[in-house]
Amino acid sequence: MEIKNRRVFLKVAAVGFISFFVFIWNKLTLRHIVTTGTEVASVPLNKNKEVQFFDKFIIVNSDHQTTVFSSHCSHLGCKIDKMENGKLVCPCHGSEYDLHGEVIKGPAYKNLTVLNSSVSDDEKSIIIKG
Ligand code: FES
Repeated sequence: MEIKNRRVFLKVAAVGFISFFVFIWNKLTLRHIVTTGTEVASVPLNKNKEVQFFDKFIIVNSDHQTTVFSSHCSHLGCKIDKMENGKLVCPCHGSEYDLHGEVIKGPAYKNLTVLNSSVSDDEKSIIIKG
């Protein structure tokens, strides 16, 4: 009888430990995936530069298209601020993304977040919404 109680206790403890670990993991990762909310920024539109790094976002001009990504790495949220060999590289743990924001090397497994953006009426600036 005592052995059965011990097994039940160990199962409950294991489930509790795993639940706690999953909860902490989600808090650590999701905290950084949520980006700038409703914040709006406006920066000069420069289609001559392939990649421009800003504090909270990255502007990529690729394939005749301008895309704005969050600069927060999808792994643990470090700021991506450099490009090496045509790839966006996170300085913290080395995740790499292509210019479409897709993960090409982990530990990140989610693509970069694409931010809503639009070109101003005079086509001189790009307006970014979080
Ligand atoms: S935070 Fe970018 S790879 Fe870990």
